[in-house]
Amino acid sequence: MQKTIIVIGGGPGGYVAAIRAAQLGAKVHLIEKGNLGGTCLNVGCIPTKALLHTVELYEAVKSASPIGLKVEKCSIDWSGLQKHRQVVVDRLVGGVKGLLKANGVEVHQGEGVLKDKNTVSVVGAASKELPADYIVLALGSSPVKLNFPGSELPGVIYSAAALSLEKIPASMVIVGGGVIGIELAALYNSVGCKVTVVEMLPEILPPVDSELAIQVREELSQRGVTFMNEAKLTEAVRGQNGLIAKVEKAGKVHELEAEKILMAVGRRANSTGAGLEKLGIATERGRIKVNSLFATNIPNIYAIGDCNGELMLAHAASAQGVAAVEHALGHEPAYYRQTVPSCIYIQPEVAGVGMTEDELKKKNIPYKVGRFPLAGNGKSVIENNGKGQIKILAGAKYEEILGVHMIGPRVTDLIAEAAMAIRLEATVDELISTVHAHPTVSEAVAEAALAVNNQTIHWPPTAR
Ligand code: NAI
Repeated sequence: MQKTIIVIGGGPGGYVAAIRAAQLGAKVHLIEKGNLGGTCLNVGCIPTKALLHTVELYEAVKSASPIGLKVEKCSIDWSGLQKHRQVVVDRLVGGVKGLLKANGVEVHQGEGVLKDKNTVSVVGAASKELPADYIVLALGSSPVKLNFPGSELPGVIYSAAALSLEKIPASMVIVGGGVIGIELAALYNSVGCKVTVVEMLPEILPPVDSELAIQVREELSQRGVTFMNEAKLTEAVRGQNGLIAKVEKAGKVHELEAEKILMAVGRRANSTGAGLEKLGIATERGRIKVNSLFATNIPNIYAIGDCNGELMLAHAASAQGVAAVEHALGHEPAYYRQTVPSCIYIQPEVAGVGMTEDELKKKNIPYKVGRFPLAGNGKSVIENNGKGQIKILAGAKYEEILGVHMIGPRVTDLIAEAAMAIRLEATVDELISTVHAHPTVSEAVAEAALAVNNQTIHWPPTAR
């Protein structure tokens, strides 16, 4: 008999789960209270990348003369860029709508509320109740809001607002040197805003391999971003040109002028409301608790993506959504957490997959390292003057690939090869013996694998 699946939430977790469930023959309802595409498409990954792409071209043109390109005048048209961002978002949201329709998924506009373990109410313009064999919660996350004196002042903003500012602010203090903070620091620095990043830890980008995090900080510092690590925003007050951010570092309070203060101190799983408490759905530290197949403590109810807090990344949410509905519909899902890459879309791009060197050290796993500077890679020299490196971490005994961390041109695409290597339990030798096209940045992956045993072709050997 045909099973019915209700998906609550239409972000990259929810809409992908809905399409996969429909492909597998289920009757699927998707309930969304806002726009299809969720945070990622509407106010997250996609609009950020649309803005960053134009800024990347702008930076390339600004530094064009050494590469034989003469540009008389180039400037950012901020309102044009904002329109472009919206055009991209609308087009992709429309695409999701079309895909759901083409797969026969019934979309309901409104808030999904669990009534019992097999019934969901849609609360909205046309309220109704829907029966379900299985329910997938894809509720997403919300920005963490800190309570500090001045936190309610206009000018204290969060990432969604930072993507659609009417004009470029003269100055911005960004609290939080995580992925959101760093991508937006790069964006606003490029368009002429004076940016200061305030990070409470000793280094920015805590989950990133620390060697790369240092390189990112140094690169952005060179471009004019100020970093205050081991620092804390204590208060925001009104100032002549917007706000004054009071930042405490090493026992001293600094007063920074900030037209905007952008809070980017993490996101919190949406794990309350929607009838979750009434049904007794278990949570742990504010996240919906799930097993390895993303089922909650109520076996026919799954929770995927940001709301289970496992990994707050759009592509992880999609993969979890697929796994959850495959499991519900009697298939054997395959979700390999260690193959989930993470990417930062600044220039040069940053991408990593698998374990970081810091993690290997902490877990006492014996490993070898291969590093290849992109100054030794022809295509990188052409594309970005050879800035960046590829680092491979391999098991000490069998040389299996444990982690790959990259900084350089287009590495957010290149990381897929590394993820595949981890998925296939490939070894250093298997990366080396896969022939990489010349000239491409991908050659540097094989070179980094050669570097594991100090055998690089296009870089001198380190002292033996
Ligand atoms: P995050 O967890 O990546 O970083 C938050 C940063 O704020 C950390 O460095 C933390 O130490 C710092 N922090 C926390 N409290 C602070 C305080 N009181 N003062 C100063 N610093 C403080 O969170 P973020 O950047 O807000 O991103 C949220 C989520 O969205 C993350 O899971 C991220 O992976 C995801 N995301 C992914 C993107 C991508 O894949 N390119 C882009 C944007 C977001």
